Amino acid sequence: MGGVLRALADTEAIFPRDLHFSEADFRAVRSLLYHKTGIALSDAKNHMAYARLAKRVRHQGFKSFADYLALLDSPEGANEWEHFINALTTNLTSFFRENHHFDLLQQHARQYAGGADAYRVWSSAASTGEEPYSILFTLAQSLAARSYDIVASDIDTQVLAKAAAGVYGYDRVSKLAPALLQRFFVRGVGSNAGKVKVKAAYAQQIQFRQLNLVDDSWPQLGLFDVIFCRNVLIYFDKQTQAGILEHFARHLKPHGLLLLGHSENIQHISNTFAPCGKTAYRLARG
Ligand SMILES: C[S@@+](CC[C@H](N)C(=O)[O-])C[C@H]1O[C@@H](n2cnc3c(N)ncnc32)[C@H](O)[C@@H]1O
Repeated sequence: MGGVLRALADTEAIFPRDLHFSEADFRAVRSLLYHKTGIALSDAKNHMAYARLAKRVRHQGFKSFADYLALLDSPEGANEWEHFINALTTNLTSFFRENHHFDLLQQHARQYAGGADAYRVWSSAASTGEEPYSILFTLAQSLAARSYDIVASDIDTQVLAKAAAGVYGYDRVSKLAPALLQRFFVRGVGSNAGKVKVKAAYAQQIQFRQLNLVDDSWPQLGLFDVIFCRNVLIYFDKQTQAGILEHFARHLKPHGLLLLGHSENIQHISNTFAPCGKTAYRLARG
């Protein structure tokens, strides 16, 4: 659903509630979401929580959120957590969003790629794939034969599946340069008519995997030259942000870059990282 429609759907006045959702239910949703994902919903997000979860409550055949929450709390609800999380994440993204980071990536890759190891980039809140594909297009255009490796992860399994499929409506790619479209995409056919798809040979170069940034231990990912963590820290409280930043520090090469979203400022949260450009950071000890 587009941003405007979603905002409208989030408004109780326009779509009156057919399901019972008490203040206590909202507090329970907030607390469960926080403990599972680190996402801290403010008081103002009551309508949003209702609008996004109501579909799951109805899908499970319940008339109230209390029954749905009881399901989550039971052994039978084990598989419902994935839907609960997918419903409540915010996945807004676009190709070459905050374009200055891709200029920086190009400069950095030209400087550091070409050694014994592949140049490695991690898109750690990849959403529907526009960010990791923008990374791929940038590296493919800048590094020629020098090898690179891209990992794209997100907590939300639904957006990750979309990312791996690499299929986008024309509206999503309309601002891309024609030469880039021609090199990296094919026109969709059959059920994908009217859309474009990232060429398989390119899409296969990205490793997509589910990863929860607030988990205590992450899978073995190795060290990266650049970590993109854009427009996700904003959903976490300071303590959660600090924990994730310490984790990132252990996954960066000494010359590595950490790139954050435009409204994410970590200078009062971490002295492990030092600023080195517009929403770009490097290891202070690096
Ligand atoms: C607003 S999107 C940002 C997408 C992209 N990085 C960008 O800047 O365009 C935020 C993404 O963070 C993901 N996310 C939220 N909590 C997460 C967590 N605990 N671990 C990993 N990803 C998470 C959401 O699923 C969502 O896809």
